[in-house]
Amino acid sequence: MATDRILIFDTTLRDGEQCPGASLNTDEKLVIARQLSRLGVDVIEAGFAYASPGDFEAVQTIAKEVRDCVICSLARAIPADIEAAAKALEPAAHPRIHTFISTSDIHLEHQLRKSRAEVLDIAVAMVTKAKGYVEDVEFSPMDAARSDPEYLYQVLTAVIAAGATTVNIPDTVGYLLPEEFGQLIKGIKENVPNIDRAVISVHGHNDLGVATANFLEAIKQGARQVEVTINGIGERAGNTALEELVMALHVRRSYFNPFLGRPADSTEPLTRIDTTQIYKTSRLVSSLTGMVVQPNKAIVGANAFAHESGIHQDGVLKHRQTYEIMDARTIGWQANQIVLGKHSGRHAFRARLQELGFDLHDQELNRAFLRFKELADKKKEITDRDLEAIASDEMQTPLVVNFRLERVQVSCGDHEIPTATVTVRLPSGEERTDAATGTGPVDAIYKAINRVVAVPNRLVEFAVQSVTAGIDAIGEVTIRLEHNQRTYSGHAANTDIIVASAQAYVNALNRLYNALQHQPTPVVTSQT
Ligand code: KIV
Ligand code: ZN
Repeated sequence: MATDRILIFDTTLRDGEQCPGASLNTDEKLVIARQLSRLGVDVIEAGFAYASPGDFEAVQTIAKEVRDCVICSLARAIPADIEAAAKALEPAAHPRIHTFISTSDIHLEHQLRKSRAEVLDIAVAMVTKAKGYVEDVEFSPMDAARSDPEYLYQVLTAVIAAGATTVNIPDTVGYLLPEEFGQLIKGIKENVPNIDRAVISVHGHNDLGVATANFLEAIKQGARQVEVTINGIGERAGNTALEELVMALHVRRSYFNPFLGRPADSTEPLTRIDTTQIYKTSRLVSSLTGMVVQPNKAIVGANAFAHESGIHQDGVLKHRQTYEIMDARTIGWQANQIVLGKHSGRHAFRARLQELGFDLHDQELNRAFLRFKELADKKKEITDRDLEAIASDEMQTPLVVNFRLERVQVSCGDHEIPTATVTVRLPSGEERTDAATGTGPVDAIYKAINRVVAVPNRLVEFAVQSVTAGIDAIGEVTIRLEHNQRTYSGHAANTDIIVASAQAYVNALNRLYNALQHQPTPVVTSQT
């Protein structure tokens, strides 16, 4: 199907959220979905409706609230999955069901234990079923990159005949190299007779670090939808990063124009993305998922526009383009300015948070505003990064809190045994205090909390980061813990990193506790 630009399909909330510990609650997903719509993505893959009641609710809520882009739910090629996706998408203005089944022999033989003919029949039957609910149906032959091309052509021809409007070609395991990915798309264009009735999409993982390059080659050969995530978060080494792909098309527009049938000097954008929203979206996703962006990350890393070498600094001062291929302002990056102060009111506070993409409930806003005032008393200069830290911290606290940290006190020093005393309010409303010693103050706190909370878990990651420079900076603590092979994250921000550490732990325990209360009905990880 002809499209005159590249469609951006964002899967941050589905494949991105699949990376260990990045799990988001419905409110957080909605905040991100709203920001994705401001960013200008064409499709939001909001989740996997059948996977759990939480996923279903998130897809349904986003479908209801975000009206100006296509909202998509993933579904295995299984009737119950497709029914759940269709139900969750009922309120959507533009619903899409994305169904998938593996087509590589290695998956057929060892995972699905089905023949090629059986898989072909299932794919057609499930696309037909999805088509009974929505007009817009996407089909993915999972592990397409390692599938026999002849069989792949046969499956694609059949699902397009059954009504698939987008056929997505996943490199599920991140195996292909750029030229090979390009050739795969070329082969599909040449050998699938009805390919002009569907959009060719690509989906890739970054195991070999070439995910963006692969997509750029695929676009040259005719792919017109790209499946990407913000900051490249996702399964294992992540997915193709939206910001890299979009900025490559933006900065090198004249190179790509002819591949879309335009004159090289056309100034028409190749995507619908408002690039000035990129940095804000990256920050929002990073603070809500707790997935820190590496400083040297292309486009959105803290050092992406920093020049350390004297020669480079000299050149940039004389003429920016001597060492810069893009202006940081194009992605909406601004120096960490002071934005609010002690005398700023609630209205200005809310407005700035909204500009940063945070739309807090009244209760969250009240708590966040109190914290802002406390911080403004301690610290004269409040920056966007401080506000993000406070807002994402408040969003971590669910409206119904099971465990609430009431008090934490630590004694430590070079001749002391680190000892912590904590008071936690339990789901029953009872307050319980306990104490423990540890190898350090944080270890002592976590042991004391464990004595009170008694939810078995294993701490797998603990990271502290300073939000801004200076001795009065807010410290952000991100932790991940494991229970029954699932990872739960928590983060918190405070000028006192000991308090932030305790709060982050309690936030993660609340997520774990909530998950135990609402055990997901089906387990679906094996096919995704
Ligand atoms: O990586 C993959 O193959 C996927 C599919 C579900 C599209 O995420
Ligand atoms: Zn994937």
